[in-house]
Amino acid sequence: MPTVIETITSRSSKRKFLNKPVPKNIQEKILQAAQMTPSGANMQPWITYAISNEELLKKIGDAIISKMDAGIPNDQFIQYYPVNWVNPYKKRRVLTGAGLYELMEVDRKDNETRIEMWKDNFRWFGAKTVFFVFTDKANIDEAQGVLIDCGAYMQSIMLAAHALGIASCPQGATTEFGKVITEVLNVPENLALLYSIVLGYEDKDAKINGYKPERAPIQESVVFLD
Ligand SMILES: Cc1cc2nc3c(=O)[nH]c(=O)nc-3n(C[C@H](O)[C@H](O)[C@H](O)COP(=O)(O)O)c2cc1C
Repeated sequence: MPTVIETITSRSSKRKFLNKPVPKNIQEKILQAAQMTPSGANMQPWITYAISNEELLKKIGDAIISKMDAGIPNDQFIQYYPVNWVNPYKKRRVLTGAGLYELMEVDRKDNETRIEMWKDNFRWFGAKTVFFVFTDKANIDEAQGVLIDCGAYMQSIMLAAHALGIASCPQGATTEFGKVITEVLNVPENLALLYSIVLGYEDKDAKINGYKPERAPIQESVVFLD
């Protein structure tokens, strides 16, 4: 059994999956573990739709892609990415994107291929199981705290999955089309989509799955005051 530190450091996002859903009992194990995520006042503000229905996943993906093709940039409950990018975050974003495109031999100016690659998000990278995480709109009405809780829940899901041999990719791409997703799924009126996570069996032969973007040294992120 790997240690927690080994599990954290060996996880990475995967973007090509085998044609195999995650068995229900394994999904339940992942979700049981993630349910133990701490949250402010033990609110547990996450509501997860765990979907392995191929037709439904296609319907969601197609609805998003047709919005994109119609030139609609987003249809969202929360704005995930900064509106005004500043350094060092901007530089890190550019480096991370450039590294992926370089690995995949996609030219920096080849916008068409880049857009197609982004659309792969909405084909779930070939994965057959996707968790869509919502919260109650009331929780994010003039407050942001539950986003911290739901972010921790995201990491719990990915680490529990990884420990059980299930690969994943978190998706802010779906955050941007949260309203479309709530419509297709016909979820209760009070729910707002925060993000999704694709889960499945990594295609180990896929070049894209070898991508492991580096992290900044902790000196860039940490201030020790001894
Ligand atoms: C909240 C969140 C949203 C993300 N959204 C996407 C996404 O929509 N599509 C994607 O391919 N990767 C997405 N990622 C993955 C990041 O690009 C990735 O975590 C980062 O580059 C670090 O790489 P690693 O996860 O392989 O360690 C997201 C990650 C997080 C935490």
